[in-house]
Amino acid sequence: MEPEAGNGVTAVYPGSFDPVTNGHLDLIARGAKIFGRLIVAVAQNLDKDPLFGVEERMEMLEAVTFEFRNVEVDIFGGLLMDYARAKGARVVLRGIRAVSDYEYELQMAMMNRKIEPEIETVFMMPGEAYSYVSSRLVKELARLGGSVKGLVPKLVEERLRGKVS
Ligand code: PNS
Repeated sequence: MEPEAGNGVTAVYPGSFDPVTNGHLDLIARGAKIFGRLIVAVAQNLDKDPLFGVEERMEMLEAVTFEFRNVEVDIFGGLLMDYARAKGARVVLRGIRAVSDYEYELQMAMMNRKIEPEIETVFMMPGEAYSYVSSRLVKELARLGGSVKGLVPKLVEERLRGKVS
């Protein structure tokens, strides 16, 4: 029998999720095994112009994480650390796919630690099958008529088709 992630640790997994990919989903599954409560937090204010509105990004995440009892999906605005603190989180979860992710992630983790030293950033690696999958490339592929099968959940595949057609 699978052990339950029964510890009292709340983790926040923040991101743009524009849209959620199978790489994100793989990380959510890994995080849900370790943390008692995992909040997937969709960023409302993005510098980049998102393809999907924040409500739609959240709705897709809710649909594809339905099976995880200890996973919630929420929207956040403002500083991530203010949000995490308000939720009683002790951990911010981030995924690292390749060395190229590291510099940006390290900078962000250090800045977040400066803002709130009591909350730790924990990095996890997605399965290697997803090490090259990003929302940005998935959108580009869909826009140019390529297949995104296997890279994103079925629901997202359909939504992407609707957006770019
Ligand atoms: O999926 P992304 O785009 O890599 O996620 C980046 C995100 C949303 C986690 C990051 O931009 C963020 O935390 N934004 C909230 C604003 C904030 O707290 N900025 C200070 C962190 S250094």
